[in-house]
Amino acid sequence: MMKIPVLGLGTWKAGPGEVTETVKMAIDMGYKHIDCASLYHNESEVGAAVYSKIVDGIVNREDIFIVSKLWCTCHKKSLVKTACIKTLRTLNLEYVDLYLMHWPMGFQHGKKELPLDHYGRVIPSETDYLDTWEAMEELVNAGLVKAIGVCNFNHEQLDRLLRKPGLRLKPLTNQIECHPYLAQENLIKFCQDRDVSVTAYYPFGGSWKGVDLADDPVLQKIAQKHGKTRAQILLRFQIQRNVIVIPIAVNPQQIQEYMQVFDFELTAEDMNEILNLDKNLRLVTFPTTESHKDYPFHAEY
Ligand SMILES: NC(=O)c1ccc[n+]([C@@H]2O[C@H](COP(=O)([O-])OP(=O)(O)OC[C@H]3O[C@@H](n4cnc5c(N)ncnc54)[C@H](OP(=O)(O)O)[C@@H]3O)[C@@H](O)[C@H]2O)c1
Repeated sequence: MMKIPVLGLGTWKAGPGEVTETVKMAIDMGYKHIDCASLYHNESEVGAAVYSKIVDGIVNREDIFIVSKLWCTCHKKSLVKTACIKTLRTLNLEYVDLYLMHWPMGFQHGKKELPLDHYGRVIPSETDYLDTWEAMEELVNAGLVKAIGVCNFNHEQLDRLLRKPGLRLKPLTNQIECHPYLAQENLIKFCQDRDVSVTAYYPFGGSWKGVDLADDPVLQKIAQKHGKTRAQILLRFQIQRNVIVIPIAVNPQQIQEYMQVFDFELTAEDMNEILNLDKNLRLVTFPTTESHKDYPFHAEY
């Protein structure tokens, strides 16, 4: 089975003006995994950085793991390949290593990425993610992508996909929001028990109603004990659960800081203390899509 480098660089909200330099720095500092998506509107700048590092001989294409994602307005089977080819052209790559279904929900196809009705609710498409998956399997056959996976699938949706009659390829990963305030113990176990890896997005947790994970005293104590930053503790926590992690980093200090997570180990007690912080606090809730038949967050996990 293909392996995903355990630490990647997130690129969501990375401004087109800065992301080329950020990705170049990250590759120079040894990052081997870059997480992209057509939705982020910066894939050409990410691709320019990767291209320049390959041309300069800093890295070979096969040594770097590039991920992109199929957006929800392109779930119809007939649209999947065109969307993937568009991403490859934008990234200026012949293939991506991993192509993910960004959400299990399909939206009406058109000019808008988030088509809304008069009530502000998303306009769904009539697609089923199992059909979208079949079209994604074809991308592997066509050599456009090396592997495929999903994001934001709850365990029922993942189970339904894994039980799909005629399934040709299992998802390589389920990319989900994951940090100590949303520890995702059940979903991680469910995925890993079925050989589906888990990738944690939003690993720093952001802030919510004045609660900021980065200020948590437990993390502060553990960071002090190990002589590390809180960000490093948050990344190491995921790595020790065999969870791949993709923080956003915006300056050279952060890029370097996040790489320095392989020279220490959290104790079992540290891990338990961090797991005990769980509040089931989901920050990425995508409220305009709550009425969608495939909205993933009504399920318990
Ligand atoms: N598949 C999906 O649906 C999905 C969804 C979301 C993200 N992703 C991917 O996952 C990547 C990571 O997610 P993300 O960028 O949302 O989350 P993240 O890396 O956890 O960063 C979230 C926020 O945490 C704060 N932060 C940054 N550095 C920090 C530090 N050292 N300590 C504490 N807080 C820090 C920043 O907010 P402030 O600047 O306000 O401090 C940042 O915007 C994305 O870039 C994207 O590639 C995927």
